[in-house]
Amino acid sequence: MTRQSASPSHADDELSVDIRALAFDELPAAAAILTHGMLNNPLHVKVFGADPEHRRRRLSRFLGPLVTYVHSNGVVLGACVQGELIGVLGMIKPGRCRPMLADRLRFALTILASAPPTTLLLFHLWLSARARNDPDEPHWHIGPLAVLPEYRRRGIGRRLMLHGCQHIDTLEASAWLETDLEINAGFYRTLGFDLVRQEPVLGVPTWFMYRASADTTG
Ligand SMILES: CC(C)(COP(=O)(O)OP(=O)(O)OC[C@H]1O[C@@H](n2cnc3c(N)ncnc32)[C@H](O)[C@@H]1OP(=O)(O)O)[C@@H](O)C(=O)NCCC(=O)NCCS
Repeated sequence: MTRQSASPSHADDELSVDIRALAFDELPAAAAILTHGMLNNPLHVKVFGADPEHRRRRLSRFLGPLVTYVHSNGVVLGACVQGELIGVLGMIKPGRCRPMLADRLRFALTILASAPPTTLLLFHLWLSARARNDPDEPHWHIGPLAVLPEYRRRGIGRRLMLHGCQHIDTLEASAWLETDLEINAGFYRTLGFDLVRQEPVLGVPTWFMYRASADTTG
């Protein structure tokens, strides 16, 4: 498989984009970008509800602790234009992508504070489906990822992903992700991810994808 270099394939030359690991005090801003950017993803609609305002509040309450979890157990990358954060990618390091009981409880309590128990049940089923599909071998778990809508299709998502994948390649590690949008599966394919399986999670079509470690692909 031919792996791409870090140069973006999209015309973003008029945008000077800085990609860097975010510090702890930047995590609330990262969670806000992710809440805005992933509000309409089908799995979020399924778990957090059809009403956009309820969904925004519930998703935000979930993504706040999730981003903190990813930061403590991996890397949170940010894309900045003129100092403004406009895109975020989280990557969880091997062995950490199935949160321990204490972390699951923390997620559950924050969700319960703004949502009915049915949301908690859906959330639990969602996490269980993720865990069931996870490969047993050590892997980096990619996500969440979002770019603000007004900055999309300018190569920023690709730049974030290439930055993350370069880090993973340096470690000769493999990567795994799931996505609830077919168009995203095509995007990830161009970054070296292969489709492992496609199956519904809570009735939502979901694509599970794997990127082999750099040493096994040459
Ligand atoms: C996925 C996402 C991060 C890509 O960011 P981006 O900065 O637009 O990405 P790039 O400009 O580098 O690449 C664009 C590619 O994204 C894919 N894509 C994803 N959603 C798309 C959409 N609604 N329309 C067109 N292309 C889309 C296409 O493959 C596109 O490639 P193309 O421009 O060659 O057709 C962004 O679309 C996003 O934030 N989506 C909503 C949240 C989400 O789905 N996150 C991923 C969860 S797994």
